[in-house]
Amino acid sequence: MQATWTLADGQDVTHDVAEGLNLMEAATAHGVAGIIGECGGSMSCATCHVVVDPDWFARTGAIGDFEDQMLDVVEADRQPTSRLSCQIRMTAALDGIRLVVPEA
Ligand code: FES
Repeated sequence: MQATWTLADGQDVTHDVAEGLNLMEAATAHGVAGIIGECGGSMSCATCHVVVDPDWFARTGAIGDFEDQMLDVVEADRQPTSRLSCQIRMTAALDGIRLVVPEA
């Protein structure tokens, strides 16, 4: 399975992502610029903020209350399809997902 991140400079990077891995873990493992994952996925840093391509957003599942609150304090402006990528787990349904890394 794969995911593609569009970096702040407009460059696309595509990496393999194992099923069950969250997209913050995948991004940091591959060194995707702009995804830090400082809190390790405990939803307390928001340094894993991504804007999900609208075509894929519905497949990423529901946003929890706490994630919703964290998205209101992300450094880059929250967008309608913003998510914390530590809260999106790769599944077959997400193979090929596209994400934008916002400029921080
Ligand atoms: S890694 Fe900290 S909120 Fe996602």
